[in-house]
Amino acid sequence: PFELELAHSRRVVPVAPGQTAVQALAAVGVTVPVSCEQGICGTCVLPVLAGEPDHRDQYLTPQERADNRCFTPCCSRAKSTRLVVAL
Ligand code: FES
Repeated sequence: PFELELAHSRRVVPVAPGQTAVQALAAVGVTVPVSCEQGICGTCVLPVLAGEPDHRDQYLTPQERADNRCFTPCCSRAKSTRLVVAL
């Protein structure tokens, strides 16, 4: 499990092991646009302000992955306990 911190509202949203980040956000009323939900299209990409994503998509370039400035919340998770996202 990990947490998402929404930078604009300072809200902290827990993401349970069986849940995607998109689902966890939806559960608290925050809608992220998605299309493929499999890490292929890039529709859901969110800027990451702090923390280390566990990239599980096939969309980001190796450089984007290494930079850790964005992640795909439809399928990716976090290696750090918290990710701060620009929401
Ligand atoms: Fe397609 Fe997330 S919805 S990559």
